[in-house]
Amino acid sequence: MLSGKTILLGVTGGIAAYKSAMLASALVKEGAAVHVLMTGHATEFIAPLTFETLTANRVSVDTFDRNFQWNVQHVSLAKRADLFCVAPATANVLAKMAMGLADDMLTTTLLAASCPKLVAPAMNTGMYNNPVTQRNFAMLKELGVSFVDAETGHLACGDDGKGRMAEPEEILAAIRRLLTPKDMKGLRVLVTAGPTEESLDPVRFLTNHSTGKMGYAMAENALARGAGVTLVTGPVSIPVPAGAEVVRVRSALEMREAVLSRAAKADLAVMAAAVADYRPEAVSADKIKKSDGEMTLPLVRNPDILKELGQTKRPGQLLCGFSMETRDLVENSAKKLTAKHCDLIAANNLRTEGAGFGTETNVMTLLTREGAEELPLLPKGEVAARIFDRLLAMR
Ligand code: CTP
Repeated sequence: MLSGKTILLGVTGGIAAYKSAMLASALVKEGAAVHVLMTGHATEFIAPLTFETLTANRVSVDTFDRNFQWNVQHVSLAKRADLFCVAPATANVLAKMAMGLADDMLTTTLLAASCPKLVAPAMNTGMYNNPVTQRNFAMLKELGVSFVDAETGHLACGDDGKGRMAEPEEILAAIRRLLTPKDMKGLRVLVTAGPTEESLDPVRFLTNHSTGKMGYAMAENALARGAGVTLVTGPVSIPVPAGAEVVRVRSALEMREAVLSRAAKADLAVMAAAVADYRPEAVSADKIKKSDGEMTLPLVRNPDILKELGQTKRPGQLLCGFSMETRDLVENSAKKLTAKHCDLIAANNLRTEGAGFGTETNVMTLLTREGAEELPLLPKGEVAARIFDRLLAMR
């Protein structure tokens, strides 16, 4: 998703520097040209060779190298960059950035670069909470620098509090967002994701293997493109995308209520959740005890949320459903397109390699009233982008 982009990654001296190696690797995997600049202190935490191996580009370190050609190269890098990300960003480098100080290769290039800048602070809680640091944050925000805020938790220095660098995936998502054209600005998108859980008694429930990855990728892509996103999510263990309004639900009935009360405002509704078709007829207040012999569970049908949305769809609103099959993919999914009054059904076959539950990729067929388009094996983020491209083309 970042192919053709040049990203400068500034690494400063903090223990979180090791996480930046994962970030560099992920950026390269997404097709970006990554150039790493390190402070002298950063090289105490991680070797430049690590980044050179991952990025296939020479790392610039503050070596007091006075080679003229070398400096000029770095000004040209500053000019070519699409984005400058500093991760981890120490209190020291943030103070320098806020003041416009340029006393090493990293801060010199930062000052020369006019591209969007993103910082991921990482420091001790005392330093983080210090009013001077807080003032520097405010100044940088005012100057248009974007932040991936530090997390609260146990810090390497032994303290508990705010100051731990955000995870590489979160920084990557912020980079994607900054570099994605905002072609969904002003649109409101409602997304469902994950499984539902249908209680049987206080200790048991019926559910399915959905991990929420495809729905979360849809929400993430819409956010990156500037849309306002409401994510109604069943129980999953992946982090929610920053910036979405998140409504957490458990059962299909709860999901229905959350979706129907918000649907009227949505321009696009994307129902990626794996909603249980049935729930136990009764929920036992006490734990059900086993007895000898067989047991039969009476189940009743859950309402079909997507179908209800299709019936109440307002003009101009677009509806996207998902379909997972093990056979007759196109035939079965085409029936859903008509029966549920959808504009698009994104269908995948559970048996196809690289598709289905829990994978990072998907192999989708997009069905519309015009016909079926088969997509190749793609990362779920890219699949999400293609689905929105199709939906936007229908508007
Ligand atoms: N869906 C829904 N509410 C339900 C069931 C499904 O909104 N109670 C939505 C899903 O979010 C998804 C689509 O409908 O977008 C899936 O359609 P569905 O008919 O459930 O597919 P399958 O369960 O795979 O169909 P079948 O049971 O007929 O195999």
